Amino acid sequence: MNSRENQQPINRPQANRTLKLKPYAFYLSSILILVLTISFNFPKTNFLKTQLLKHTFSSHPTTIVQNLFGFLHPIKKPQQTQPINPTPKPPNCLLWMAPFLSGGGYSSEAWSYILSLYQHSKNPIFRMAIEQHGDQESLEFWEGLPEYVRKLAIGLYNTRCSMKDTVVICHSEPGAWNPPLFETLPCPPAAYQKFKSVIGRTMFETDRVNAEHVKRCNRMDYVWVPTQFHVSSFVQSGVDPSKVVKIVQPIDVKFFDPLAYEPLNLASVGKLIMGKATQDLETKKKFVFMSVFKWEYRKGWDVLLKSYLEEFSEADGVALYLLTNPYHSDRDFGNKIVEFVEKSGIEMPVTGWAPVYVMDTHIAQTDLPRVYKAADAFVLPSRGEGWGRPLVEAMAMSLPVIATNWSGPTEYLTAENSYPLPVDRMSEVMEGPFRGHLWAEPSVSKLRVLMRRVVNNVEEAKVKGKKAREDMIKRFSPEIVADIVTKHVQHILQKVNR
Ligand SMILES: *[C@@H]1O[C@H](CO)[C@@H](O)[C@H](O)[C@H]1NC(C)=O
Repeated sequence: MNSRENQQPINRPQANRTLKLKPYAFYLSSILILVLTISFNFPKTNFLKTQLLKHTFSSHPTTIVQNLFGFLHPIKKPQQTQPINPTPKPPNCLLWMAPFLSGGGYSSEAWSYILSLYQHSKNPIFRMAIEQHGDQESLEFWEGLPEYVRKLAIGLYNTRCSMKDTVVICHSEPGAWNPPLFETLPCPPAAYQKFKSVIGRTMFETDRVNAEHVKRCNRMDYVWVPTQFHVSSFVQSGVDPSKVVKIVQPIDVKFFDPLAYEPLNLASVGKLIMGKATQDLETKKKFVFMSVFKWEYRKGWDVLLKSYLEEFSEADGVALYLLTNPYHSDRDFGNKIVEFVEKSGIEMPVTGWAPVYVMDTHIAQTDLPRVYKAADAFVLPSRGEGWGRPLVEAMAMSLPVIATNWSGPTEYLTAENSYPLPVDRMSEVMEGPFRGHLWAEPSVSKLRVLMRRVVNNVEEAKVKGKKAREDMIKRFSPEIVADIVTKHVQHILQKVNR
């Protein structure tokens, strides 16, 4: 790391500081145009809906406005003139490169870090910059972001940093790292040695890291992973142990606060797939199981349906809601479910199927807490998870959670705050890029027992839900994680600056 410093020309701070990192200016332009186009187009309803979140940034309104102003007037004044903002700015930058404009797992993760850091750095030791990287931009996702987040994005986009003062975080799958294996802005966006330090932030859902990814991890100065499970699997796969650092993921416990929401009317969004809708209007409220996942085999939707349909019947007064969206598949989830049930030979109970509903319409991020609020328990028997965002969201919403006790979620599932679902055995991944790796087969019979237990012991379940929220606040609230990230970046800066 010290030798890197020496390769850099010294005493050129002025020239460097005014330049955006040049080598990728070209890639930037298309995204800038996208961002600009959309930012002049805020729908009013969105604005109102997102007021809830706004308090988060109320302490920094001027910064946002100044950054936005800077963006809309991209021709910078020469450095010689007096700066508009008299507060001295730290020379170092933290450039976070992630699929910010894409939606999906890495995208929401990356936003959670950025928002945490932005909100909780009182005397920042670095400036923050972001860059779209690792996936395609999605207009639908961008438009669904709260307005203040979009403004912040534009502001952080516009931060000018010199490479030699910048710590880069490549928050994506290692195939996107420089040189990328598919078309994306490379991360880092120039030779690794040109930056102060380069960190890869990634994770996997299986038991190992493949050789190509190990090689890419070892090219990094550090590899951040979210859980102890990943520390072990990365090191066992051959990633240099001195590079692997656990940095947990934040959850916005103010946004996901059960006291702040009314439940969503599930009847208005759920399509009935199995069983009968209740006719006796709310005379007997059903016990609602909720699951949230992308429609892929890994998520164990087959295990969930089998357990639920075998354990319960219409007479039990329960309902299962699946909030799902396509993952390399079409949207016809109803047919897939019916087909699965027919093929797996689950017998219809004499009193009829317990009802299954699918919610496949787009639920705006701002309405997501209301989905959890409408449930009595959350259940996700996946075969492997990186972190499991819906799980921590449900836990922050004080829901009792039943989830597979393997991979990422072992970081936070305990017998006191949830119902960790035991694994029957490990099984081989049969398709996709991780074919041949192992992941977990959650136990169908034990899932049946746990679901029944939650229904029959509502008080116990409530106690666990309460503990779940407490644990989320204690371990993963934004200020806690912002502090962890800041300390580590500080450590890197001190080490490199020596
Ligand atoms: C969950 O798994 C961990 C090991 O990964 C184990 O130590 C723990 O006892 C398990 N918890 C439950 C409740 O089965």
